[in-house]
Amino acid sequence: MTTVTMRGACLAHDDTGAVAQLHGLGIQQFDGTYYAYGENKVNGNLFQGVACYTSDDLAHWHNAGIVLAPRAEGLLAADTIAERPKVLRCPSAGEYVMYIHAERGDYNYAHVAVAVADNPLGPFRFLFSMQPFGNISRDIGVFQDDDGAGYLISEDREHGTHIYRLSDDYHSVVEDVVCLRGTNYRYGYESPTIVKHDGLYYWFGSQLTGWDCNDNMFATAADLHGPWSEWKAFTPAGSRTFDSQCDLVLPLPDGQFLYVGDRWQPKDLGNSPTLWLPIRIGGGQALLEWHDEWTYER
Ligand code: DGJ
Repeated sequence: MTTVTMRGACLAHDDTGAVAQLHGLGIQQFDGTYYAYGENKVNGNLFQGVACYTSDDLAHWHNAGIVLAPRAEGLLAADTIAERPKVLRCPSAGEYVMYIHAERGDYNYAHVAVAVADNPLGPFRFLFSMQPFGNISRDIGVFQDDDGAGYLISEDREHGTHIYRLSDDYHSVVEDVVCLRGTNYRYGYESPTIVKHDGLYYWFGSQLTGWDCNDNMFATAADLHGPWSEWKAFTPAGSRTFDSQCDLVLPLPDGQFLYVGDRWQPKDLGNSPTLWLPIRIGGGQALLEWHDEWTYER
């Protein structure tokens, strides 16, 4: 057993001493190693590639470089915006499939781009972009269920936020599983992420306030199709999720869970701190607790 010390809010530095560009990140564990994919925001909001970092403990990060580079022109070029990269390993093909919110330079294009690689360290190759079943797609998340089925979670303004089931090769959507608006809220929640614990799905998301933080919400269901519970906050009302926007909730050993979120600094996005906090999940409840520093055993 090793004790890992985590800092509640920090600018994670990588093994080169640079600030890890883990903004809007996704994390997956492949063959025992954590792979984090983040937005590289060193020079502002336009697309500078997807940065990848590897870690054994989620506290120390090796810089594995840019795994999806900006294209020469068109979508995902350096004059566009691309956010919230998320990678799944497709069980049937063994391929690594990246989903990423792709915009043309403002926030009106609202597509999701798909890129693939044979290796979690890339290089990822852009395949195409889409609007699932013709629906607007802004903030995204992904989820892989115990049976290997892959899901794309995608925010669609006043229609709500969708969960789409992916095809066996993870390249397309085959079912609009559910589309939810918030509780007493006219939109779906953005920065969506889902985790499963004890047979219950926990879906987290934030309200739509740009780079500003708000009280993020969660809902639960025994089936992705629903019925879903009402949405409620998982931090004290008015805490604005300890000034963060959720990226993901990740299982740790021994039934513990890690919450990762962004504390955006719109004028200096590349130095936006990341929150790494324990979140208690169980019995349909979720509670995020503040700690300057905390530990877990691995
Ligand atoms: C909120 C989203 O969650 C972020 O990823 C980013 O798109 C900002 N809006 C931009 O205002």
